[in-house]
Amino acid sequence: MRKPKTPWLLIVALCLCSCTATEPLSVIPYPQHAERKSGVFLPEGANGNSMNARMLDSISLLPYNEMKTELSRYGITVSLEDSLAGVVSEEGYRLSVSKDGVRIRAISQTGAFYAMGTLSQLYEDGGFPCVEITDWPRFKYRGMHLDVSRHFKSKEFVMKQLDAMARYKLNRFHWHLTDGAGWRIEIDRYPELTGIAAWRPYPDWKSWWNGGRKYCTADHPDADGGYYTKEDVREIVQYAAQRHITVIPEIEMPGHSEEVLAVYPELSCSGEPYVNSELCVGKEATFEFLENVLSEVMELFPSEYIHIGGDEAAHEGWKSCPDCQLRIKEEGLGDEAGLQGYLVRRIEAFLNRHGRKLIGWDEILRDSVNSSSVIMAWRGLQYGADAVKSGHDVIMTPGDYCYIDAYQDAPFTQPEARGGYLTLEKTYSFEPVPDTLSSEEQARYIGIQSNLWCEYISTEDYTEYMLYPRVLSIAETAWTSSGQKDWRRFRKNVIEETDYLKLAGYNPFDIRKEKGERPEASRPEEHLAVGKKIEYVQPFSPYYPAGGETALVDGVRGGWTYADGRWQGFINRDVDVIIDLGEDTDIHYIGAEFMQLIGPWLWQPAEVIISVSEDGQEFAELSRQFTDVPKDADELIFRTYAWEGEVSARYVRYNALNNKIKNGCLFTDEIIVR
Ligand code: ACM
Ligand code: ZN
Repeated sequence: MRKPKTPWLLIVALCLCSCTATEPLSVIPYPQHAERKSGVFLPEGANGNSMNARMLDSISLLPYNEMKTELSRYGITVSLEDSLAGVVSEEGYRLSVSKDGVRIRAISQTGAFYAMGTLSQLYEDGGFPCVEITDWPRFKYRGMHLDVSRHFKSKEFVMKQLDAMARYKLNRFHWHLTDGAGWRIEIDRYPELTGIAAWRPYPDWKSWWNGGRKYCTADHPDADGGYYTKEDVREIVQYAAQRHITVIPEIEMPGHSEEVLAVYPELSCSGEPYVNSELCVGKEATFEFLENVLSEVMELFPSEYIHIGGDEAAHEGWKSCPDCQLRIKEEGLGDEAGLQGYLVRRIEAFLNRHGRKLIGWDEILRDSVNSSSVIMAWRGLQYGADAVKSGHDVIMTPGDYCYIDAYQDAPFTQPEARGGYLTLEKTYSFEPVPDTLSSEEQARYIGIQSNLWCEYISTEDYTEYMLYPRVLSIAETAWTSSGQKDWRRFRKNVIEETDYLKLAGYNPFDIRKEKGERPEASRPEEHLAVGKKIEYVQPFSPYYPAGGETALVDGVRGGWTYADGRWQGFINRDVDVIIDLGEDTDIHYIGAEFMQLIGPWLWQPAEVIISVSEDGQEFAELSRQFTDVPKDADELIFRTYAWEGEVSARYVRYNALNNKIKNGCLFTDEIIVR
């Protein structure tokens, strides 16, 4: 005889049902509206074959009519409609899964493609959970940038990343094709760009950078590098288009152009190779070159937008170049900054004449470009606000949230990276649009993008490790309205996606192994100097004030990166401060910690002198120490310089001497007195 169900079992069963109905979906980016229903749809073709996620992905790449026919064999119907109630973007869709079948409605084929992408992510154990989804993107520009200059990436690797982009509904691939470390696109008219400027006789960027920065021919025994032929580019552009992704090429100018000037030195101010970084703007030959290159680029890329860089031009060579100075005078440009504006506006006019629009890094805001040009804000949120206030559309990619070449976990657990510390959670916390702006200004934020610069990222495996899963954060912020975002749900979904990505042959960082922030930074440090008066004998840098005048006695310790607003910086100066404890105090410890990271020019102090005083005038030296960290130690190093003993005093002086490297910095976070 069957035992009757106990109430206990009934409760568990009821709970399981209701939990399933409200449980969030495992979909990244998360849909705007999703309602789970009970049951699953088990797709089965007339021939008895069941449908799976992989089949769905490949069917989604077919031309619309073929896709529709294929899907109908499995009980999945697709229709394109003029509009869909509640869907506010052409890329939106409605997806209804019931036990009897799947219905996809979209306004465009892109919307249908995204609906199938969502369905594919929902696939589990041979079926699709019943669900009602209405979905559309928050931003129309959802970008991923990849630097292939510092380290070349194969065509196949690029295509693999386009597959991942499509999965996460990213739709703009910003391809950083040219930079000082290598030119990566075949240009028929200028064969030396790929004959020489695409190859370096060093195994990686770092040894090239530190070892003379020369280029070589492809047949040099140590040649490392590569480039995309025109056929490669066409294949990639088409592969991307099939996945509803536009490829935006970036051709850098006028800075970051050492590789061009090495092989065409007549385009530089000096006329010599390996001297200048910027193209000479005084010479007409430069414009002839740029227009010829861009003409070939436009033939390959149908993108409405062409990125022309525009960042970090030092203008050094221009100052003493007769051609540049003559141009400044004749055109009434005022100075070298005006000369850069002249170049950018001329290139903008050239692109516009050819029916294209210009994107540039936020430096181009200075250049009086016209309002059709789009600003890519990388230096901070303020540059985005400035751009929209001056009437431009803006793409937000601020370093603090979007530069995924920073460490994603405790640096000592990670392969060498640029520095910085940018966790998955921090990338996920990115809110690009300030709510203080008018709705018209807010509407000019057309999107966001992750940037992956590859100076330190020499292998394809490591590239994927840095891309994933942080790109997924950017994808969800780009697609999902801020009110629908949820860190805990996202983190859980990322863990599932990490398993998917591994199975699919990618090399993501596994967030389950995350060590997290520097322990010192996780709680306030209690000690005798907290809140006490501090006098700066030498000032801190206005660029790195941390907490300002009280930063070194506020109990707040720094994290893994000097740029986290907790480390105070001293450029070309010593740390020399006097703390007034207010009264004679028994002291047994005085110390401070310093960070060395020579990429951004941070060193340990050469020497540290710690002294105390009764009256603040006469100081008695307690200790004098020299650093044991070599100047060329190029990993991230923390060192504490402290005195320990027994003394009674009211004033403490902490003096850390700069090691005299030009523009070298000292960074410390707290003077601890116990
Ligand atoms: C940049 O990171 N220089 C755009
Ligand atoms: Zn010049």
